Amino acid sequence: MAIIKTITPDTIQDAANVLKSGGLVAFPTETVYGLGGNALSGQAVEKIYNAKGRPRHNPLIVHLSTAEQAQTYARINDHARAVMDKFWPGPLTLILPQKPDSTIARQATADLDTIALRVPGHKPARDLINACDFPLVAPSANPSGYLSPTTPAHVAAGLGDHVDMILAGGACRVGLESTVLDLSTNTPTILRPGAVTLDDVQDILPGAVCNDQPDTSAPIKSPGQILKHYAPRHTKLRLNAIDLHPGEALLAFGSDRFMGIQGGGAASNLPDTMRRNLSETGDLDEAAANLFAMLSDLDTPAHTAIAVMAIPDTGIGIAINERLRRAAISGKKAG
Ligand code: TXA
Ligand code: MG
Repeated sequence: MAIIKTITPDTIQDAANVLKSGGLVAFPTETVYGLGGNALSGQAVEKIYNAKGRPRHNPLIVHLSTAEQAQTYARINDHARAVMDKFWPGPLTLILPQKPDSTIARQATADLDTIALRVPGHKPARDLINACDFPLVAPSANPSGYLSPTTPAHVAAGLGDHVDMILAGGACRVGLESTVLDLSTNTPTILRPGAVTLDDVQDILPGAVCNDQPDTSAPIKSPGQILKHYAPRHTKLRLNAIDLHPGEALLAFGSDRFMGIQGGGAASNLPDTMRRNLSETGDLDEAAANLFAMLSDLDTPAHTAIAVMAIPDTGIGIAINERLRRAAISGKKAG
């Protein structure tokens, strides 16, 4: 089992030493916990794919401690510079053309000629990268295809045997993975929605579009895109529920006061183990921060399904709904 250490300047140094010797460290970011390894070491990157059981054609995000480091690995044009100035550090990943002399391990980018870069908003995450003197690849610290972790306990439960150290820093503020924005083609394109929304990006790049549901007959741009993701282990999801079937757990949004159970009964009488509310006041930021933890709470074989109330498709609600749709797909898993 991994050693769990509360994040302090001393434990950040310990974690950096583990990473320098080729080990893996899970650490908190403002989005979700990441499974970190040395991005310059093919061996460390291989360990990450193995630990997660992740398909090797699904590339990883390279995490930097400052925006200036981006030009070491990627070609930065005016568009990219403007977006970095506005959103970094923060929950936004940029896909950029990789420089031919980039020293990032080729396994990290799955042999693509592009690279995914992000400077996390969470200061201790940047301190860790800084203490390493090399960038960190860090996919979400979960077994491939399952719910992303937003607490140290989630990481320990999913990957405890495959990670050398877990830096514990409490629950993640945003709770959903970073927005992925592709700037490697003529049209800036969001491939994964997140806390930085299309509206936010269009303030800087008016021509930006969102394409998180690619045409599956076209070449795949972001390999993680078309596969099942974020799935609970035991229980399937039923989306946009307006009432409950007997045996279902409820994931509510806003008031569930008038929600009934088919055949009789009220959702409000369900036991605590069968009922969570993403945000009683209908606050989408609160709902995003709670999403993965509450799905994980309700994910037991005791329930026939998790019925999820409708979430408004605006702001970060777009990202919440994208995660829910992918979690509800049955089929091949990845990522
Ligand atoms: O918030 C986050 O982004 C978290 C934290 C730990 O930073 N990390 C994360 O990593 O979510 P991961 O590996 O779970 O998701 C990375 C996504 C995948 O969908 C992958 O396909 C896409 O980024 N990606 C990485 N490199 C890419 C590239 N060169 N072109 C297109 N998509 C890429
Ligand atoms: Mg992931």
